[in-house]
Amino acid sequence: MALIALNLKRGSSYVAEAVTKVRLRTGVEGFDDLIAGGIPKGFLVAVVGEPGTGKTVFSIHFAWKGVLDGQKVIYVTTEESRESIISQAAQFGMNFNKAIEEKKMVIIDALLRDKADQWNMVELTVEELLNKIIEAKKYLGYGDARVVIDSMSAFWLDKPAMARKYSYLVKRVLNKWNMTIVATSQYAITTSFGFGFGIEHVADGIIRFKKMIKGWELKRYVIVEKMRQTPHSLRVHEIEIVDGKGMRVKGPVEYTRDEVTLPSKVVEGVKRGLARKALEERLMELD
Ligand SMILES: Nc1ncnc2c1ncn2[C@@H]1O[C@H](COP(=O)(O)OP(=O)(O)O)[C@@H](O)[C@H]1O
Ligand SMILES: [Mg+2]
Repeated sequence: MALIALNLKRGSSYVAEAVTKVRLRTGVEGFDDLIAGGIPKGFLVAVVGEPGTGKTVFSIHFAWKGVLDGQKVIYVTTEESRESIISQAAQFGMNFNKAIEEKKMVIIDALLRDKADQWNMVELTVEELLNKIIEAKKYLGYGDARVVIDSMSAFWLDKPAMARKYSYLVKRVLNKWNMTIVATSQYAITTSFGFGFGIEHVADGIIRFKKMIKGWELKRYVIVEKMRQTPHSLRVHEIEIVDGKGMRVKGPVEYTRDEVTLPSKVVEGVKRGLARKALEERLMELD
């Protein structure tokens, strides 16, 4: 409702259209409100951040919500084993094993070198990645699918210059199969020269996770840096990861004094101005 009110105020039919798009809920409590209800269907969204910021936990939520919403889910893991993803999910009460048994989910373990396992990968190439995902989709059957690629950067570690071309290829090919993709990347995609350079142009959305130590405590944050066709929040939000539950958005970060304090040069200038004014007033009194 808040969004609709906002649209009326803006008088923009484009914004109204954006809100009515088919959106996939992420399953992260409080997060979908930041992106007008969810990720637009068919998007490729890059989830970026340093290690330990919550990219995999976010991906797990997105995958599980797909199962709950009756979509087919394909989860590609490169940094952790399939078992590790399954037990991480279990800690949040999500039964990935059951979803796999019921043919609602496939976890492709990119590092598994077990030929007997249908969902392993012989080599870490984008071509093989696409082939495996399509094979998984065929196996899971008809319907919309959610794909998680965690992490995407693993596929062009040795060819960073190809990041943009590969991201585009992944998006174009998987779009044809009615897939919505969440792809994680460990690198600062807008600043790093080598890795992921170029993916930010291809991605329809960028969700950045951050961590910081404040008051001797590790805090985690999220910011939606980009989400096409979406009136998304521009604020940094604090998140938390809770045992038994998973990730949750706590709320927007309040502006701290540091942030509202003017640059010291300006402050000095104002002080000098006030001092001069006071001096002038004193002089006038003396007159
Ligand atoms: N059961 C849990 N309870 C609380 N926090 C957890 C739990 N499982 C994982 N975490 C937190 O999540 C972090 C891992 O986040 P993850 O999504 O794997 O990071 P990334 O993928 O960005 O490297 C851990 O370092 C820990 O702080
Ligand atoms: Mg991870």
